[in-house]
Amino acid sequence: MKPIKIGNIVIENPVILAPMCGVTDAPYRHEVAKFGCGYTVSEMIASRAALLDLKNANQKAQRGEFEKVMAVQIAGFEADVMAEVAKKIADQGADIIDINFGCPVKKVVNGMAGSALMKHEDLATKIMESVVKAVSIPVTVKMRKGWNEENQNAAKLAKIAEDVGVKMVTIHGRTRAQLYDGKADWEFIRSVCDSVKIPVIVNGDIKNGQDARCAMEISGANGVMIGRATYGKPWLISQIIDELCGREVKIEPCAKGKWQIIASHMEGIAELYGKQAGVGIARKHLSWYSSGLCGSSEYRGRINQCNDFDEVMRMTGEFWGI
Ligand SMILES: Cc1cc2nc3c(=O)[nH]c(=O)nc-3n(C[C@H](O)[C@H](O)[C@H](O)COP(=O)(O)O)c2cc1C
Repeated sequence: MKPIKIGNIVIENPVILAPMCGVTDAPYRHEVAKFGCGYTVSEMIASRAALLDLKNANQKAQRGEFEKVMAVQIAGFEADVMAEVAKKIADQGADIIDINFGCPVKKVVNGMAGSALMKHEDLATKIMESVVKAVSIPVTVKMRKGWNEENQNAAKLAKIAEDVGVKMVTIHGRTRAQLYDGKADWEFIRSVCDSVKIPVIVNGDIKNGQDARCAMEISGANGVMIGRATYGKPWLISQIIDELCGREVKIEPCAKGKWQIIASHMEGIAELYGKQAGVGIARKHLSWYSSGLCGSSEYRGRINQCNDFDEVMRMTGEFWGI
């Protein structure tokens, strides 16, 4: 695994935590970064909404204490609004601005944002140009293969991105039409790597070190981005880094170690959102942490019926034998 350069920023081990709405908030990124993940991306921030509700945008763009290089992702379809939001976020200390051309969600693409922009190359170009011009930090783009099977223009759009000053592209190896169906196409990403000189990151269905190695070999990409496989396993990315660097892979934390991670993660959630608003987010992560363990479905049933943060934590301590 070789370091990559995103503009003037060097990432020693390009194994990147994917942006995931409702998951990769500051408390979670903080835990993942503690394990040595050197590059994390925030949840997407809807640009127009961000101008109206700065508190929510600031919450999403907040840096976890251990985060090294942190990108904040913005979505939208109005170039001037996106440029304004990018500038605000850069002024608040983000290292990188990532633009979302990949979100498949209906309410996002109906507003012409996310992956819908892959159908509108002129508008996508204007957005990239405006954001690059607005900030002095590097700008990156995350996209899919294309809109659908007949329109797979990621290689073309990546070249346009490079030409307007974007410093890295990440490709999720599915089209928008696929949503999350089928298997991510790592082979396709080779065509993107062939079309640009900036770093290309392969994303989709990478669950472990072996997948990461395979995805890089098949695609020719310079690094990997991992999303869902990290659910309940903030240590996974560091294990993948170990494996790709040919080092001995650190073993999974023991139950006591996991409890310490969980306690710190939950403390972060309570601090960021408050206990009342944070309990739903806490329960989601707690369910993932318990996945596959003996008695976990009964535990999940109980916490999912409880709206009191402290009581959920009491049940969690009991489940983990604390
Ligand atoms: C719950 C969830 C939320 C997501 N939110 C975002 C987002 O805010 N921005 C984005 O670019 N991609 C988002 N994605 C897509 C992921 O970043 C990633 O591209 C996708 O999950 C495929 O990678 P994986 O197979 O490693 O999970 C999201 C995915 C999930 C499952």
